[in-house]
Amino acid sequence: MRPTDPAAETVFRSITGPLLAWYAGNARILPWRMVHPDPYRTLISEIMLQQTRVETVKPYYEKFIHELPDIRALAEAEEQRLLKLWEGLGYYSRVRNLQKAAQAIMRNHDGKIPADREKLLKLPGIGEYTAGAIASIAFGLPEPAVDGNVLRVCARLLDDSEDPTDPDFRKQIRDQLRQVYPAGSCSEFTQSLMELGAMICLPGHPNCMDCPLKKYCLGFQAGTAPALPTRIKQSPRRIEIKTVFLIGSEQGRIALRKRPGKGVLANLWEYPWADGELTRHQVEEWLNKRELHSMEIRPAGNRKHVFTHLEWQMTGWEIRSTAESPEFIWATPQDLQSLYPLPTAFKGFKPPV
Ligand code: ADE
Repeated sequence: MRPTDPAAETVFRSITGPLLAWYAGNARILPWRMVHPDPYRTLISEIMLQQTRVETVKPYYEKFIHELPDIRALAEAEEQRLLKLWEGLGYYSRVRNLQKAAQAIMRNHDGKIPADREKLLKLPGIGEYTAGAIASIAFGLPEPAVDGNVLRVCARLLDDSEDPTDPDFRKQIRDQLRQVYPAGSCSEFTQSLMELGAMICLPGHPNCMDCPLKKYCLGFQAGTAPALPTRIKQSPRRIEIKTVFLIGSEQGRIALRKRPGKGVLANLWEYPWADGELTRHQVEEWLNKRELHSMEIRPAGNRKHVFTHLEWQMTGWEIRSTAESPEFIWATPQDLQSLYPLPTAFKGFKPPV
């Protein structure tokens, strides 16, 4: 059944009571889940949770809130400090936009996150999902937040095999859900849909027997639930081959360089690398060109890092150099830990000192 079908409203209306009752007894205790959710905390947690798993987010969220406890602190933070707080979470444009949003809130909203979907949507990095999440979770407004989990729950409830990546489908789900938002429990309703998607209505292997909604679920009744929503073939990832140089100097420092200000992992730091898979001889040439006089060169293994549309296949070389070429920043191990945000892509290699 399509979400625009008037009967879809009946299905959605039938689940609000049982879902809220299930949530009241089964919600996980999470650091951002509070009796009275705070808009700033909701903003930070929802942005972090967009492409990242709950267990991964927990420690990042706690540290972020501790170090930057409010909109003003976020608006005024140094970029490198922000990137360091985000180090390892990936999709770094999220944190850049988060800061732009905080600056816009300071400028245009007197430092207060607006309790209004339209105003939220005007902020950098805040789309329909985040606007709905903040409006409903933090402000108790009847605004759905449809992420992948909620979309899956709804596609199964309606037994709809539509392409889940179609923005029209998402909008139709949102519009239909908005009609049934239970006054006084909007915050819990948004979270209960997410929680059901995360704990019961799992991709591939839903646990239908434990589902509080199975009586109302058309996908369960038709036996189609596990196969929904219809998976779309992903376009293949572009593959880039790199040779990564893990250069430690005699002084005990590590060669790093800053990534360009645009593109993937902008303004983060990296170990120097060259395109392609270099032979030992080519590695020596690369080092000589930079007046890095190597005492020792040895293979440091292969690593792979998968981004959404890109894959890096990397071969590492560990190098001990007597000289510190001015082409790089030479960081102490302590500085590498506390100062320079190094993306996860490079973390598989052991620092050379
Ligand atoms: N995924 C996205 N938002 C979430 C939330 N608030 N709680 C748990 N999982 C989530």
